[in-house]
Amino acid sequence: MNDQELVARALHARKHAYTPYSHWAVGAALLTEDGTVYEGCNIENAAYTPTNCAERTAFFKAVSEGERAFAAIAIVGGYENTEPEQVCAPCGVCRQVMMEFCDPQKFRIVLGTKDGVAETYTLAELLPCGFGPENLSAQKSDE
Ligand code: THU
Repeated sequence: MNDQELVARALHARKHAYTPYSHWAVGAALLTEDGTVYEGCNIENAAYTPTNCAERTAFFKAVSEGERAFAAIAIVGGYENTEPEQVCAPCGVCRQVMMEFCDPQKFRIVLGTKDGVAETYTLAELLPCGFGPENLSAQKSDE
């Protein structure tokens, strides 16, 4: 699975976005280290705060199926019923969820548009000095 194909999967996932409030539809495709892809879309809610981003939908689907090792995520977003012309970067909450499960130096975030891959970053580039599980284990007492 190359990055161009992963963006195509994100575009497919975006078709399922449930966005009656913002009308901003996002799709994500999360690639595991063994080559499985989990698609996710954003799912909004009348109470607003329960809204789940596309990226977290993909992560929670994968983690709930037992996956723990991830290589990359492709993300596409834009107003519903239009083709994404510009990149849609992940929100801070989603970056933090990535930090929980991914090596920030290795995990790749592929931002796409209707035309395919546009920009690629590592998680460390988008979440510098991130706080993750290793920070907590470094602080553990020896009791
Ligand atoms: N959203 C995502 O799903 N992912 C992002 O990277 C940015 C924002 C969603 C949340 C909400 O449903 C809509 O886009 C507008 O913020």
